[in-house]
Amino acid sequence: MIEKNKNNPLASNFLDIESLSVQDIDAILEKAAQLKEEKSIPRTLEGKIILALFFENSTRTRTSFELAAKRLGADVVNWNVNTSSVNKGETFEDTIANLNALGAEATIMRHYDDDSAHRAATIMHTPVINAGAGKRHHPTQALLDAMTIVERKGSLNGLTIALCGDLKHSRVAASNIDLLSKYDVKIHAIAPQELKLAKDYEHLDSIKHFSTLEEGLPGCDVVMMHRIQKERMDQILYSDTTYFKDYGLTKDRLSYASPDALVMHPGPVNRQVELADDVTDGPQSVILEQVKNGPFIRMAVLDRVLGDH
Ligand code: NCD
Repeated sequence: MIEKNKNNPLASNFLDIESLSVQDIDAILEKAAQLKEEKSIPRTLEGKIILALFFENSTRTRTSFELAAKRLGADVVNWNVNTSSVNKGETFEDTIANLNALGAEATIMRHYDDDSAHRAATIMHTPVINAGAGKRHHPTQALLDAMTIVERKGSLNGLTIALCGDLKHSRVAASNIDLLSKYDVKIHAIAPQELKLAKDYEHLDSIKHFSTLEEGLPGCDVVMMHRIQKERMDQILYSDTTYFKDYGLTKDRLSYASPDALVMHPGPVNRQVELADDVTDGPQSVILEQVKNGPFIRMAVLDRVLGDH
């Protein structure tokens, strides 16, 4: 189920993984796979204008949403926080209300607050699509990760998947847990004590917690690495060298996982901090396949939210 926009019951928001059923997720993965096979993408969003509202930096997500929207025939208006009136003291709510009054057909939004997209959706009259919110939500990243795993492993069911690194501050880890918990997946959460997953996930039986890669990687079919998010920390706890020494994924540490384990990372990768160069560029890495799948997942999501069905 895609959440209905309260201000306009005909519009559908795309805010988080929690509000999707397994059938919804399977349908999005299937649509994305079908679009990837397509020689010419049907221009189902011709004539629509989409606003891309990024309050935080982005390379992959912004570009892949824009590519996706344009491939489907939509126009994209990019809004830049650095040149906006947010810097003149306008509140978030007022900014959103004003952008709503301008009247785009949908808004793709990234913001540093966990509930930002949900708050925007209570103001906007047209669909809001979450492109990353604080430490909590990044639904399209979880979907493109799932697509990449399914392409390589055939299914999510039956897999053991390690989530490693700074899990405390990672919206990618949070949305991946939301998604993987809907399937028959065992999750190994591997993080230093100070960067462990938030308490909200402690009740989930599907998650086992570990504090070293050596303990957590045995039996894992997929190793998802996460960036150490210094910008979300009050205090820098590790130097890059100490972090790499204790938690960096080296070839040697990777050998603890299953021999055909996939190595994933949402990017941006800090080379020789989270991942050794020869693992980032090695035969088990599917990092660029994740990036490649981004536009197809985002086309499937945009089509679902805005297409005529
Ligand atoms: C992530 C993000 O911004 O949430 N990257 C991404 O979208 N591909 C992860 C990160 O910033 O580390």
